[in-house]
Amino acid sequence: MEAFPKLDPRSFLLLCACALPALALSFPFSPVDNYLLNCGSSVDAVVDNRAFLGDAPGSGGSRVLASTRTISLNDASPALGTPQIYHTARAFARPSKYVFEVRDRGTHMVRLHFRRFDSSRVELGDVRFHVLVDGYVVLSNFSGESGSRPVIKEYLIWVDAEKLVLTFVPAGRSKFGFVNAIEVISAPKDLILETAQLVDGGKLVNFNGLNQQALEVSYRVSVGGPKVTPFNDSLWRTWVPDDAYLKSTYGSERVLFGGRIKYQEGGASREVGPDNMYNSARVIKSTNATVPNVNMTWVFPVTGDYKYLVRLHFCDIASISLELLYFNVYVNGFLVSKDFDLSRVANEVLAAPFYADFIVEGDNLGILSVSIGPSNYSFAHAIDGILNGVEIMKLNNSMGSLDGEVCGGFILKSWPRGNMGVVVPLVAVICLLLSISVVMRWRTTGVSQTVAWTKLPTDMTELSLKQARQQFR
Ligand SMILES: *[C@@H]1O[C@H](CO)[C@@H](O)[C@H](O)[C@H]1NC(C)=O
Ligand SMILES: *[C@@H]1O[C@H](CO)[C@@H](O)[C@H](O)[C@H]1NC(C)=O
Ligand SMILES: *[C@@H]1O[C@H](CO)[C@@H](O)[C@H](O)[C@H]1NC(C)=O
Ligand SMILES: *[C@@H]1O[C@H](CO)[C@@H](O)[C@H](O)[C@H]1NC(C)=O
Ligand SMILES: *[C@@H]1O[C@H](CO)[C@@H](O)[C@H](O)[C@H]1NC(C)=O
Ligand SMILES: *[C@@H]1O[C@H](CO)[C@@H](O)[C@H](O)[C@H]1NC(C)=O
Repeated sequence: MEAFPKLDPRSFLLLCACALPALALSFPFSPVDNYLLNCGSSVDAVVDNRAFLGDAPGSGGSRVLASTRTISLNDASPALGTPQIYHTARAFARPSKYVFEVRDRGTHMVRLHFRRFDSSRVELGDVRFHVLVDGYVVLSNFSGESGSRPVIKEYLIWVDAEKLVLTFVPAGRSKFGFVNAIEVISAPKDLILETAQLVDGGKLVNFNGLNQQALEVSYRVSVGGPKVTPFNDSLWRTWVPDDAYLKSTYGSERVLFGGRIKYQEGGASREVGPDNMYNSARVIKSTNATVPNVNMTWVFPVTGDYKYLVRLHFCDIASISLELLYFNVYVNGFLVSKDFDLSRVANEVLAAPFYADFIVEGDNLGILSVSIGPSNYSFAHAIDGILNGVEIMKLNNSMGSLDGEVCGGFILKSWPRGNMGVVVPLVAVICLLLSISVVMRWRTTGVSQTVAWTKLPTDMTELSLKQARQQFR
């Protein structure tokens, strides 16, 4: 039950009548494929009871590192309180691969952890690289983002093969890539379904094959509540509070719920959304004889030129009784569900979670909006709108990219003498011309793991180096 009524609520009666309430037993999700790597390290790191294996030769995670001549980096003075996985990194001066054996085909969660730090072995100003997951471009011309706070990128990738391949490609001979930690985890089968509703020029149509797109998690928000950390999430996700995205607090209030979230067969499972997300919400409440004429609106900056999956999470933790809550739901100003009856889709159980998936075009304005407002069926002296969580995920474009208009094949071929084994003559000639200009520097760098990188590129002044440093602190 992945989407709203197609504007005919009666169809839900049929779907829901046969759904039996799930047993209250809760087995924690146990993924078949579960790779956690502490990159650049020979020791394991435990974060929130999860062991990230070192990927250095001889360590538990070394098997998946399929390239040699990579560089281990060590933060000599990590900031206090930074988890251990961010104290080391693996750096790449040439295209390098991790290859993960896949035992459970289907959607996999891939999380990449980046935290820039100073090292005597590499120059931060030279960090610029592309990352491919199974041929999809997930990052291009990436510099690890400035600032010393960790950056976590998450992707959902459909794998119908025996291997998942993660490739780091420096953006040039004098550039390099890095990563601090990697997670590759097979997702529960119900996490991304095959079909969603596409908002297409004022009407809803089916969008098929959603689960076979590459997705990037752009936003994952727990509405009305505190941050939910990987420790408290069934799939080790992070859900941030909604305050930064809520357009105005006028007309809405937060609700926190201390009772049990009643997961139902046919609704959202605990893996789709954890208790800690569903037990908070923001609501529109009528306290007198009139239904307020307001919307709650959340606004998310996005890059145009991509489609986005908008997943809305609902759980009626606020009404005093069933069948009192009706509201309208808008995505990008378009009414995607009119007179939405949460009691009905939640199998006539309060505090039972439900979610709906919509696909929209990121518009030219560069924002994506979600609004909840009372409907013509809303009651006075009742709750007249609710939202518990929002996830926004970017779909790959027609180039198979999540980050720009360059396809993965082109990125791989642009490295003629690398270990990728593909050389296209024309591209090779262009790259040869380019590399002449950097060949001198290349000779002094990146030759083997045991040779330290020269700290200062010869053409960089002391001053510009300092400026670069300050930028990255
Ligand atoms: C990286 O940036 C350069 C310069 O801005 C651009 O020419 C190139 O196409 C970009 N590469 C990718 C893979 O986006
Ligand atoms: C987990 O959630 C509980 C509340 O449900 C909270 O008290 C606790 O601090 C959270 N732990 C972490 C590590 O986020
Ligand atoms: C109902 O309450 C709202 C504020 O909560 C107020 O603006 C409105 O005027 C009230 N309506 C009536 C009919 O009292
Ligand atoms: C709520 O938002 C929808 C969609 O943007 C809009 O049509 C409607 O007029 C809004 N209602 C109020 C009270 O602002
Ligand atoms: C609510 O009812 C009014 C009057 O019947 C109608 O004009 C309006 O379109 C309805 N609004 C929605 C969102 O159904
Ligand atoms: C995503 O990539 C796949 C394979 O490269 C392609 O078939 C699909 O059309 C792309 N998705 C979109 C929305 O363009």
